[in-house]
Amino acid sequence: MRKLRLGILGSGKGSNFKAILEAIDRGELDAEVGIVISDQPGAGILDHAANAGVPFAQIEEQRYKTKLSPEIEDKLIGMLRGAKVDLIVLAGYMRMVKERMLSAFEGRIINIHPSLLPKFPGIESWRQALEAGEIEAGCTVHFVDAGMDTGEIIAQVAVPILPGDTAASLHERIQVEERRLYPQVISTFCAGGSRSLIA
Ligand code: GRF
Repeated sequence: MRKLRLGILGSGKGSNFKAILEAIDRGELDAEVGIVISDQPGAGILDHAANAGVPFAQIEEQRYKTKLSPEIEDKLIGMLRGAKVDLIVLAGYMRMVKERMLSAFEGRIINIHPSLLPKFPGIESWRQALEAGEIEAGCTVHFVDAGMDTGEIIAQVAVPILPGDTAASLHERIQVEERRLYPQVISTFCAGGSRSLIA
């Protein structure tokens, strides 16, 4: 059977993408990255792609900060289709996914979010958990729908909040778990687990 091909979207430093590549290199994840696309010129995730010899591209959106204009979203869909990807992996992608993308890749877009959803959707969710006096935080992998961090939950890992934790120390521990969890979840797709994505 051919390998599951991933299309990675990211806006930031790309530590989750790097963890996915490392899991592939270690033989723990039997997938290949078809393309990495960023909406942020100069994002670290593009450097990781370039260093690893993975195809990468940028999209430029001037009009909106939190979503793409319909014509740019169409361009993104074209790039992902051109790369023949089976699963779209959001790895620190900071824009809402709109209807065009959702219907083009129905049931094939996943995201990782640094909280125990449905608690604390949105930005800086580790800080929200700390400020709410929670005893644990964590991370969640979920299918993407039209809401903000509202799609069906696939897997989550809890991270205890320790006495003396700062937002930064808690965020760092959550990210360690994210880098473990995301490749594991993707490998369940490779095995035909969560849903079979290879036609
Ligand atoms: C991660 O913490 C992820 O949960 C959130 O954005 C961050 C991306 O970090 N959605 P990185 O770019 O993968 O390092």
